[in-house]
Amino acid sequence: MRQIDYIRISVTDRCNLRCVYCMPEKGVELLKHNDLMSFEEIYNLVKALVPLGIKKVRLTGGEPLVRKNIEELIKLLRSIPEIEDITLTTNGILLEDMAEGLKKAGLSRVNVSLDSLDEEKFKKITRWGSLDKVLTGIDKAIKVGLNPVKLNVVAIKGFNDDEFINFIDFVYNKKIQVRFIELMPIGESDEEAILKHYPIDAIKKLIETKYELKFNDNIRTNGPAENYNIVGGVGSVGFIGALSHKFCSSCNRLRLTADGRFRPCLYIDQEYDVLKLIRSGASDDELRTFVEEIILGKPEGHNMEDGWGNQRRKMSQIGG
Ligand code: GTP
Ligand code: 5AD
Ligand code: SF4
Repeated sequence: MRQIDYIRISVTDRCNLRCVYCMPEKGVELLKHNDLMSFEEIYNLVKALVPLGIKKVRLTGGEPLVRKNIEELIKLLRSIPEIEDITLTTNGILLEDMAEGLKKAGLSRVNVSLDSLDEEKFKKITRWGSLDKVLTGIDKAIKVGLNPVKLNVVAIKGFNDDEFINFIDFVYNKKIQVRFIELMPIGESDEEAILKHYPIDAIKKLIETKYELKFNDNIRTNGPAENYNIVGGVGSVGFIGALSHKFCSSCNRLRLTADGRFRPCLYIDQEYDVLKLIRSGASDDELRTFVEEIILGKPEGHNMEDGWGNQRRKMSQIGG
């Protein structure tokens, strides 16, 4: 059986931005509060799953920092000794105000989505985000010790391919890892996404026109990135080849949506309603058996190239 040690938990489908590849500007149907898993339900579920080998929890959204009192959930998860790593993927808008409280609550580190270092382009991709706010948030996260901070750059042909090297310049002297992610056809327009995705091998080549990169097998996070040191620099770089380098066979993750459905694969629509089971009073043993069956049935791989269509859940509803 696959060793599943990493669970990605979406805590909300709401977001304070509307990145064009992720969410439409208007008209997204949002979950009602009662459909969301409560913190206690999440905590009890994670605790029940620890014997299966779960060691790492990543909180995602939408934007996880817009979920009220998220620190309380982090504190609860931190009280489970077997959980070594509690991490969060955020757009960084609220980080400046919240970083300190998150650290105090027991968060290990953060990944921050940042697709452009140019104010105008940043506004364009997020529809209304403030680049300054995110940059200040990143500084604050480093200052309070949410390290290593990682930047997630979704690579988009014709949009930010002139900035790949700028991103390396940006992290060269900082304790930050920048990761380039191939745009996945999930959400808005798939054909467009496939046309606009920028293969990681080409990104690496481009960076190597200025910098020497050295593969680093020690930067292991159980995530999908291949990691490299930037020779002579402090920062590092990672590549997530969701399309060109399928990493499905080594996938060690389970995803839980904000409304309590397990999704064994980001890209396959099968979902298993664990919240219903919890609310019907299932025991920890029953929950474990339920999840073990999901892990056994975890697919070998997906066909991202086939596209997504517009009937399916959006990235913000799955948690990335
Ligand atoms: P680390 O723990 O820091 O390694 O984080 P991570 O890369 O696991 O998490 P993050 O939320 O930062 O995700 C980075 C990118 O990888 C996002 O675009 C995710 O959608 C993508 N990603 C994460 N897991 C998977 C996966 O199983 N399949 C695919 N296709 N993409 C994934
Ligand atoms: N393709 C690749 N990455 C995406 N993300 C959101 N939508 C996509 C997509 N279509 C990224 C976000 C965030 C992470 C959770 O997933 O930028 O960093
Ligand atoms: Fe929000 Fe992240 Fe989606 Fe952008 S990618 S709209 S920040 S959930």
